[in-house]
This record gives sequence, C-alpha cells and structure tokens, in this order.
Amino acid sequence: MTPRTIADADRYWENYYSSEFIFGLGTEHILATLQQLPPAQTWLDLGSGSESLLWSIALDARRLIAVDLDHHRLNLLRDYAAARTPRGAYQTVLDLCGLGQSDFAQRCGSLAVTVIADCLIGRPLPLQAGCADLITQFGLLGLASGPDQFRASWAACHHPLTAGGWVAGANWNATNRTGRVRLSEELYTCAFAGSRMTPLLIRCVPIGADPNFDSVWIYLGRKA
Ligand SMILES: C[S@@+](CC[C@H](N)C(=O)[O-])C[C@H]1O[C@@H](n2cnc3c(N)ncnc32)[C@H](O)[C@@H]1O
Repeated sequence: MTPRTIADADRYWENYYSSEFIFGLGTEHILATLQQLPPAQTWLDLGSGSESLLWSIALDARRLIAVDLDHHRLNLLRDYAAARTPRGAYQTVLDLCGLGQSDFAQRCGSLAVTVIADCLIGRPLPLQAGCADLITQFGLLGLASGPDQFRASWAACHHPLTAGGWVAGANWNATNRTGRVRLSEELYTCAFAGSRMTPLLIRCVPIGADPNFDSVWIYLGRKA
C-alpha cells in the first residue's frame, strides 16, 4: 500500500506555505533548480496538490495542467488561482525570484485544467503522449512503497513528455522511512535511463527545519 501524504488537504494547505517562508526545508534549492529551466508551453505538475503555483513562480510556463488523486487539494488550487493573491511564503518566493503581483496573477491564469488521476499505479495517465514539454512532481514519487513502484510510476508519469522535453522535481526523505521507497542516486539514474532521459542533476540536500524529513532529493533532466 502506498504511504499517505504527510498531512490531509487542509492541514497541508495551512502548515506548509501559508505563512512565513521556511528556509531549510529544501524549497530554496528546488526553486534555484527550477529557475534553470527554459520556458515551457505545457507544464504538467503531478501530485500537484494545492501548491503548483508556488513552483510556478520560478518557472516560465504558459499552460499548467495539475494532476492529483485528491479532488479536495485540486479545489484548493483552483480557488487559489482564481483569487490571484499570493499568501505568506508565496510572497517571499516572488521576492526571491525578483517578481511581483502581476507575475503571480499571470501564473494563476496559466492553470488550464486540473485532472484527478492515480499517478502511482504504473499505468498511463489519462493524457496524450507527448502533450507536455515540462513534467514536474514534488513529493509524489517519494510516496512509492519500493523501487519497483517508483520505477513503474516514474515511467508512467513521464509518458506524456514530448521529445526534447524537460523534467524536474524533488522528493523528501521521511525521518520515519517505514513503508517508503529508499531514494538513491542509483534509483534515479535507473529511472531516467528507463524513460530515455538524461539526468542533468541528481542531488541530495540535507534539511534541518522539519522533524518529519531529514533530506530532499532534487533532480533535473531532459528527454532525448
Ligand atoms: C507531499 S504532497 C505534495 C504536494 C505538492 N506537490 C507540493 O509541492 O506541496 C503529495 C501529493 O501527492 C498526492 N498524491 C498522493 N498519492 C497520489 C497518487 N497515487 N496519485 C496522484 N497524486 C497522489 C497527494 O494528494 C498530495 O497532493
């Protein structure tokens, strides 16, 4: 059975990025990685939850498709996009990226569609192959229960990526790893190779600001 996300939709929404930006969770490293990506036409964020717009600040993406299994989180995301007003941590991320309110409003407007789908069963998503030129996930694949599920989910999740498209993401190592895949450079390298993608960055960053997590794996790559 796939381990559960650290908090339900409402608690996650309240706890993680609603108030002050917390340095030391790895977020600032992920944002710096995302800033290296070229502009994207169609960005697919898998396991998006309510937070795609946080990562969108560091990206230049025209159209966002957010996918999650939990419709409640997707409702939060849609309502937030409609409100177009950055809360707590989002304002700090805008400042860190040298952007303002109008940039945030533009990113909110990029949310084109939300899709309810299970991304961890290793079966193709209900999306056309090649429909996205950027696919991200933050905290989704790390929920796999073992390496087989991780690799199968990775392959299915990247099926919609067009040739030459980019991938990026991050997965946190829970302090209590029971039932969760053990992430490693070898596992990522193998997953990249299985999807004919070249890894350009696979890095583990230690974190100290959250007792539930001790480090985060960040990656960036490109499909041949
Ligand atoms: C740790 S949260 C990360 C949320 C968001 N990406 C972020 O950066 O804050 C993991 C997300 O994966 C979603 N999720 C868990 N299992 C899933 C599955 N099997 N398929 C799709 N999404 C799933 C959860 O609903 C949740 O939104």
